Amino acid sequence: MDHFDYVNGAMQVEQVPLDAIADAVGTPVYVYSTATLERHVGVFREGLSALDNPLIAFAVKANPNGAVLATLAKLGLGADVVSGGELLRAIAAGIPADRIVFSGVGKTAEEMRLALDKGIYQFNLESEPEAEMLSQVALSMGKRAPVAYRINPDVDAGTHAKISTGKSENKFGIPYDRALESYDAARDLAGLDVQGVAVHIGSQLTDLAPLEAAFTKVGVLIEALRAAGHDIRTADLGGGLGVPYDPSQPLPPSPADYGAMVCRVTQGWPVRLMFEPGRVIVGNAGALLSRVVRVKQGAQAPFVIVDAAMNDLMRPSLYDAWHDIRAVKPAGVRETANVVGPVCETGDTFAMHRDMDVVQAGDLVAFMTAGAYGATMAGTYNSRPLTPEVLVSGDKWAVVRERPPLEALIAADIIPDWVGN
Ligand code: LLP
Repeated sequence: MDHFDYVNGAMQVEQVPLDAIADAVGTPVYVYSTATLERHVGVFREGLSALDNPLIAFAVKANPNGAVLATLAKLGLGADVVSGGELLRAIAAGIPADRIVFSGVGKTAEEMRLALDKGIYQFNLESEPEAEMLSQVALSMGKRAPVAYRINPDVDAGTHAKISTGKSENKFGIPYDRALESYDAARDLAGLDVQGVAVHIGSQLTDLAPLEAAFTKVGVLIEALRAAGHDIRTADLGGGLGVPYDPSQPLPPSPADYGAMVCRVTQGWPVRLMFEPGRVIVGNAGALLSRVVRVKQGAQAPFVIVDAAMNDLMRPSLYDAWHDIRAVKPAGVRETANVVGPVCETGDTFAMHRDMDVVQAGDLVAFMTAGAYGATMAGTYNSRPLTPEVLVSGDKWAVVRERPPLEALIAADIIPDWVGN
């Protein structure tokens, strides 16, 4: 559930009309709802309430805006980071280092040094060479790094191929069947303190069965590792729970269903459980607000050309993702239309043959469920500046990232003097 509702025929977020934000900030602009963030954190936590002191580490990649992170920090969340940049953002937003876990296949020695210096809770290692490098870096600093291995359980998450991570052919984790050997080798590395097991099989999962299969494998491995003398104290079950995008599709499992499954499968595990939810916390807490530039006739259906493009919201062109597109002030009439952006490639298409509100030039539309993997994946293709962001709370709202001036885009290029001009 979110806090984007129609009041007197116009969509507002909490108590703020979206057209007021569009008029003041311009479009396109991302708009986030604090009440929705709070609600989602509450619901996720409630689903896990039977667990003893779980660590819920928000996957920063889903939405790294400082104001969003600070809101989540205030609610007590930790952070799952995948770069030095995300680590520094999480700390700057007030997330304590002892609630931060560092994931990712390509951590550099420099990033390892930074995270060791900050004193993070856990590194999730993805390969033996990475373990060796981290051990060396830690020893050079006179430290021991707290680590888990991310295992690759060879489970098909049943989601889009580009966001599946738990099949043996994917780049993530160490092979499940060789895990014991990898853990034994890590024990001999003096710079590591081997404390846990981690798994993450993919994103936007709409079925709990693959998650349950992966978690069951983690449970079996924990037992085997403890029998082999490894002092396993943590299990990181990753993120991945899907959110509703298309109201005509069945709802994905709720955080309560997910929590019940987790509690059942992990009962009796002698570890602290950790979670890395991203999308389920922020997805429905954000919308991308855009204005219709013009409508042109197409051979089969009208093209609604909006001022947002694939550089602002990449998900439809990258994963054929479906986002609900709603008129901010619907006229009460519907039609079948194509919704496209101004970027010069056919992939800059948000929806084809979509049954939607009739809109005209100048009208505002909202791309729903854009709070996760929206602004953070934006770029400047076609020399379009990065999309600004706004955070709403009740009747208050604030720009939490400005739209950069076009001059800044141009000034960023350096023309060497031999080119001249
Ligand atoms: N933990 C790890 C190690 C991850 O790689 C991810 C997401 C998460 C947690 C959070 O997963 P979530 O709860 O958000 O599903 N850009 C794509 C999604 C990429 C997900 C990458 N990893 C999209 O827009 O659908």
